Formats: sequence, C-alpha cells, structure tokens
Amino acid sequence: MRTSLLAGVVLLVFVAGCNEDTSGKTDAELGLNAQQAAGRHLYQQNCAACHDAHSVPGQNGPSLEELLKKPFLPSGLPANERFVRQTILTGRNMMPAVGSSFTQQQLDDLLSYLHTM
Ligand code: HEC
Repeated sequence: MRTSLLAGVVLLVFVAGCNEDTSGKTDAELGLNAQQAAGRHLYQQNCAACHDAHSVPGQNGPSLEELLKKPFLPSGLPANERFVRQTILTGRNMMPAVGSSFTQQQLDDLLSYLHTM
C-alpha cells in the first residue's frame, strides 16, 4: 500500500518535471502563428524576468506554465482571460501593473501567447 503510494508520487514528480524548456526554441519550432509570436516577444520583454517557467512561488512570480489550461490561477481565481488581463493591466500584490501602457493589440497578442504556454 505504502509502496504504491510512493510510486505514484515519484511518477507525478517525474511527469511534472518533464516539461521541456522552450526558451531556446524559435517561434516556428514552437508552431506559433504571427500573433502568438508577437505575444511571445512581449512576454520575453515584460514578463519572463519574473515569471521564469520553473520559478519558485514566493520568489518573483509563480510559473505561468499551462496558466490558462488549469482550472485556477495561482491566486485561486478561476483561470480565464478576464482575470489574467486584469492582473496584467493593474498588477497584483508584488506584481507591478506591467501592462498598463500596452495597447489593446499588444494585450490580445500576449493573451494569445499565454494560451500556448
Ligand atoms: C516585477 C515582477 C513581475 C513582472 C515583471 C510580472 N509579474 Fe506577474 N506576478 C508577479 C508576482 C510577484 C505575482 C504573484 C502575485 C500574487 O501575490 O498573487 C504575479 C502573478 C501573476 C499572475 C497570476 C495572477 C493570479 O491571479 O494568480 C499572472 C497571470 C501574471 N503574473 C502574469 C504576468 C504577465 C503576463 C506579465 C507580463 C506582462 C507579468 N506577470 C509580469 C511578478 C511579476
């Protein structure tokens, strides 16, 4: 009983650790369209410093990997575009209002990229 539980935990850690580091890949290698590629560029310039794919919660920002594929955001809010846009525009706790000067187009591009993460 105890052994199978342990095996399950080990398997989970293994699967979670298998996410590829995509930072060295080109937009084409990631299969991004033009809008997603523009969003990726914005992300690298404005978000990546605090939101490294493997960052530790508490230090800088949480990992945003699979942000919009999970049911909840790190804060516990439902993971949908509305709350993510709000965070980008107005900031959240230690996160500054990074996107307060973004155009609507830039915001849309960024969101389209966040969906691919
Ligand atoms: C200066 C560091 C910093 C930058 C730059 C930054 N963030 Fe954050 N971000 C944080 C921190 C810290 C949190 C955790 C906030 C909290 O306490 O809930 C966070 C949280 C988030 C969350 C989770 C919100 C939730 O409800 O849990 C999202 C989504 C997010 N950031 C997106 C972005 C995007 C997109 C960008 C770029 C446009 C960005 N962040 C730039 C520090 C940063």
